[in-house]
Amino acid sequence: MSIRSGLKFGVKYLYVLIAGFSLLIFGIFSRKQRAYIQTLADQFGWKKNARAYPTPLPLFDPDLMLGGTEINILQPEGNPGNVTLLELVILNALVKKSKAGHIFEFGTFDGRTTLNMAANSGPTTRIYTLDLPAESAASFAATHDADDAKFAGKIQTGYKYKKTRFNEKIVSLEGDSSTYDYGPYRKSMDFIFIDGGHSLFFVENDTKNALSMIRDGGTIAWHDYRSNCEGVTKVVNELYEKGGIYGNLRRVKGTNLAVLTPHTVDTILGM
Ligand SMILES: C[S@@+](CC[C@H](N)C(=O)[O-])C[C@H]1O[C@@H](n2cnc3c(N)ncnc32)[C@H](O)[C@@H]1O
Repeated sequence: MSIRSGLKFGVKYLYVLIAGFSLLIFGIFSRKQRAYIQTLADQFGWKKNARAYPTPLPLFDPDLMLGGTEINILQPEGNPGNVTLLELVILNALVKKSKAGHIFEFGTFDGRTTLNMAANSGPTTRIYTLDLPAESAASFAATHDADDAKFAGKIQTGYKYKKTRFNEKIVSLEGDSSTYDYGPYRKSMDFIFIDGGHSLFFVENDTKNALSMIRDGGTIAWHDYRSNCEGVTKVVNELYEKGGIYGNLRRVKGTNLAVLTPHTVDTILGM
């Protein structure tokens, strides 16, 4: 190591030392910072997956529900971090079937799912897709779930759709989903896909915000509903246990997708 890079590292080390002390001492009073402490514990080998979360949602058979729906598949070969090809097929079919005019996506990543939702919706459909600003993605995601940290900041957000003819249907939004202002989108979305941060804190927030944006009769899909993903699985299970419209939640067979098609979101939320 040269003197210059040694010095650079030393400054960084001091910064982390001070920030770490502050996080461990004052962080316990903040919900968001407690989530960071949890993530650090996971990074240090805490057995976060020792417990397998139950996945009680009834299965939704895609053959029965979506069979016969014609879809377009673009960019079938994905990057690590993308949904699987079967999941992409299901999402495309759900978007096509729902005739969605307004779509919201948490977690743009490379834009493969965004591009496909654009290719399977009408010409006037608008797709709003939110991800962290490029300059903060890597550092921000390092404080997320360990799996999230693997992908964040490694890829140019939305590059898969930017040079295609579908780009004009897509509105790229930048920000942290837990502090973003969803006011302009309230009760206006026909279809929402949640696949941003996967820790409990972010999934709870994204779900709450999705419920405020979905219109009556719209559809919400979560990725990573599986026994070793606490955030998504716990949040979706708790909704399902509430019953009522949430009793409509289904896990799509052969995938890690959970899907809710609410008919009267207002009644449940008391809005
Ligand atoms: C697993 S990737 C999404 C994959 C994408 N849905 C697909 O199917 O290809 C998760 C994305 O969520 C973004 N993300 C994580 N935490 C976020 C947050 N708090 N706010 C906004 N975006 C976030 C990450 O930067 C990453 O691009």
